[in-house]
Amino acid sequence: MKRVAILISGGGSNMIRLVESMTQGPEAEGHPAGPVLVASNDPAAPGLARAAAMGVPVAAVDHRPFGRDRAAFEAELLKPILAARPDILCLAGFMRVLTPGFVQRFEGRMLNIHPSLLPKYPGLHTHARALEAGDAEAGCTVHEVTAALDDGPLLGQARVPVEPGDTAATLAARVLAMEHRLYPAVLRRYAAGDRRPVLLS
Ligand code: GAR
Repeated sequence: MKRVAILISGGGSNMIRLVESMTQGPEAEGHPAGPVLVASNDPAAPGLARAAAMGVPVAAVDHRPFGRDRAAFEAELLKPILAARPDILCLAGFMRVLTPGFVQRFEGRMLNIHPSLLPKYPGLHTHARALEAGDAEAGCTVHEVTAALDDGPLLGQARVPVEPGDTAATLAARVLAMEHRLYPAVLRRYAAGDRRPVLLS
């Protein structure tokens, strides 16, 4: 079984879906991976309590006392991660930029979900930017994490239509529903050693 650690910063709805997919119901049958840790840079992240309620060990390392010293923050965050001995690291709404050193350590075994059809709209405010550009479709991407922000080999992509009258909030909700389908599908395939992209629409 592949050991999966998940990093979050907030509500953790993607994390919940990843954990569910590995541990609950028919979806989890024959799954090649299991959750070993959920960690957050925010001790108040609601997702931590949700993970604990699902029986997954949790850890929090507040990034704020470290100021701009990302490497010092990561050195602390690394402790519970290494103790959990993960084979795969999933970023799921983890909103801290990681240093190249951290990324290199997990290169080839770290995934991220991003709420746009990459390479469009890396960074923040993806839905507002898609609406502003007049895009007819939006979506989400799971990719392997490399040192460049929101870049790296594509592992999955899901598309949704932009509807008339959409706001950033309504579009975000439609995309998030697809994230919840895409990320578990990608993780299952990836944990089985298959890196062909999952494409959903
Ligand atoms: C998700 O939409 C995820 O794609 C996005 O944050 C949200 C987290 O929601 N991630 C990024 O923007 C990463 N740059 P969740 O905490 O409910 O999973």
